[in-house]
Amino acid sequence: MSNKITGEGPTPIRKEIVDGLIAKMGIQDFAKATIREVKQVAAMAEKESGVEFIKMEMGIPGLPAAKVGVDAQIKALQDGIAHSYPDIQGYPELKRQASRFVKAFIGVDVAPEGCVPVTGSMQGTFASFLTCSQADKKKDTVLFIDPGFPVQKMQLQVQGVKYETFDVYDFRGEKLRGKLESYLKNDNICAIVYSNPNNPSWVCLTENELQTIGELATKYNCIIMEDLAYFAMDFRQDLSIPFEPPYQPTVARYTDNYMLLISGSKAFSYAGERIGVVCISDKLFHRHYDDLAARYEGLPFGLVFSTRMLYALSSGTSHSAQYALAEMFRAACDGEYHFRDEVKVYGERARKLKDIFCKHGFYVVYDKDGDQPVADGFYFTIGYPGMTSGQLARELMYYGVSAICLVTTGSHQEGLRVCTSFIGDHQYEQLEERMKIFEENN
Ligand SMILES: Cc1ncc(COP(=O)(O)O)c(C=O)c1O
Repeated sequence: MSNKITGEGPTPIRKEIVDGLIAKMGIQDFAKATIREVKQVAAMAEKESGVEFIKMEMGIPGLPAAKVGVDAQIKALQDGIAHSYPDIQGYPELKRQASRFVKAFIGVDVAPEGCVPVTGSMQGTFASFLTCSQADKKKDTVLFIDPGFPVQKMQLQVQGVKYETFDVYDFRGEKLRGKLESYLKNDNICAIVYSNPNNPSWVCLTENELQTIGELATKYNCIIMEDLAYFAMDFRQDLSIPFEPPYQPTVARYTDNYMLLISGSKAFSYAGERIGVVCISDKLFHRHYDDLAARYEGLPFGLVFSTRMLYALSSGTSHSAQYALAEMFRAACDGEYHFRDEVKVYGERARKLKDIFCKHGFYVVYDKDGDQPVADGFYFTIGYPGMTSGQLARELMYYGVSAICLVTTGSHQEGLRVCTSFIGDHQYEQLEERMKIFEENN
């Protein structure tokens, strides 16, 4: 495949090729195309034109899995762990190391009992949604601080649970309190969900914003599901020195009503093994909710989560993957495994890509946390003056660049999500060359 632009006509890839493929796939509104559809159009356009695409739509890790985890998992398998069911509460050593990890890198105390392995944060949110939405019959709605990860809404659709959402773009800082209260005062919100750093915008909520969320969670008695899929990946600060500040920012400092979802997928590049932990605050773990107790033999919140929801879903989490995660947590806490060093390349890529886009007339859509520019990391967002998301996504396809529209993530802004995980070193030059032509044409 050529790295050079070989397409004919005024754009690197002939428009007819892209338009034809979009029509053939029956995509009526490209703004609403799913990641898989964008990926498919890009792959087919690449094949037809012979021009390499710069693929920025997928949010999957582009780095090798952490060796420390792989070695531990292989050893566990060789020692024969595959034959036995894991404990439904989780492998005790993983629970112990997860609790240490939370102390070392978040700076809060969660007992090992409350650290429960899940088959990825994906299952963690599914089981959390089930538990939170059944805890109190009055509270039947989940609130998303969007933009967010679309699959979580699909999980609620599957469960038949209602949700509300707002785009945080217009409600940063002091405005967040009023906006959250406008929902919470209706007394129907069981849980609030957000990711931090955020997929897709890479917004990181400030300490003040987290404090607001925590205070309101306590006041209105709702549970915060803090999705830390991109743990410690706010590369503006070094959050990776065990047992020393600065720590991963968290709502856990401001309320007891929290569940922290820590994934092995991105920070440890361990997505394929589907492993993570949900860390439930000590108070919430032991809390009795009348409606849960009535349905589940008097069990408290934490045990409903593990012995009912997780048991019903998958009877626990792959045994050998739990050994891998236990060892990754241990080695990180003991200062032997520097996970941030392995993934910070995403931040370097984002910086270079943003520079190229901005040089050619693009702007970063979600650009600030308080008065600071957003961090460079796994994702960032771009817009182009005068173009809607759908126009921009389609137009960039003509230049061999694929990305998804923000509208698919619950954002109300016109723009695209760019993912840095698959960018190869030779592609900066390609992007520069193509965006130069884009600028001339637009
Ligand atoms: C915000 C967010 N949460 C959760 C996940 C899924 O994590 P896991 O692979 O642990 O299921 C992702 C993956 O892209 C994500 O972006």
